Amino acid sequence: MNKKLALFASLILMTSTSYAEDISKYQDESRAVAMPFLKQLGAVNQKAVSEGGPESAIKVCKDIAPQMSSDISRQTGWKLTRVTLKTRNPLLGTPDAWEQKALQEFDIRAAKGEKPETLEIAEIVQEPAGKSFRFIKAIPLQAGCVACHGTAEQISDNVKVRLHEEYPHDKATGYSVGQIRGAVSIKRTL
Ligand code: HEC
Repeated sequence: MNKKLALFASLILMTSTSYAEDISKYQDESRAVAMPFLKQLGAVNQKAVSEGGPESAIKVCKDIAPQMSSDISRQTGWKLTRVTLKTRNPLLGTPDAWEQKALQEFDIRAAKGEKPETLEIAEIVQEPAGKSFRFIKAIPLQAGCVACHGTAEQISDNVKVRLHEEYPHDKATGYSVGQIRGAVSIKRTL
């Protein structure tokens, strides 16, 4: 290999290595924000359900989850959202094209036996609006979620009425424990 070619090859190697390092660094940073968000949301939700029943906890989900994600977005400068293929709140939960593809991939990977709680995708993407780092992590349904996202038998009549009032186009029911309810998504402009 001549010198020029060798230099060129090492340059390419250097760029791709630092690119990989960037992704794993961004991925760690995103996970460090996404995990506590999900944990805190779960705790607040559980507390509301145990104090006032699922009926009154609907309000918590409606107000607190979007509030928490917009607080995090303000603090970090990243866009943090919860998205799903079957929305309850289509205004906030509808995935964009990248998220939709990721959610579909999660379903396929889960069907092939991967554990939903381990499903993640991290990628640097070039979109017309610019370059960004994207991270998405699946949210598996837990036992505490079925009172509002489970089958018709698991959701009380009162909850059904409230859900119908607030979310006339609700698609987010019929889930069982362990299924992928949606994902937390982070978009960070680079
Ligand atoms: C007390 C009822 C209730 C419980 C319990 C509940 N949710 Fe929800 N969930 C809601 C409501 C209401 C919304 C819509 C929030 C909004 O308006 O943004 C929602 C929205 C979501 C969304 C956003 C996407 C969408 O469909 O709009 C995800 C993801 C989600 N829930 C996951 C969960 C998970 C996981 C659990 C269990 C850990 C859970 N929920 C427990 C009521 C509930």
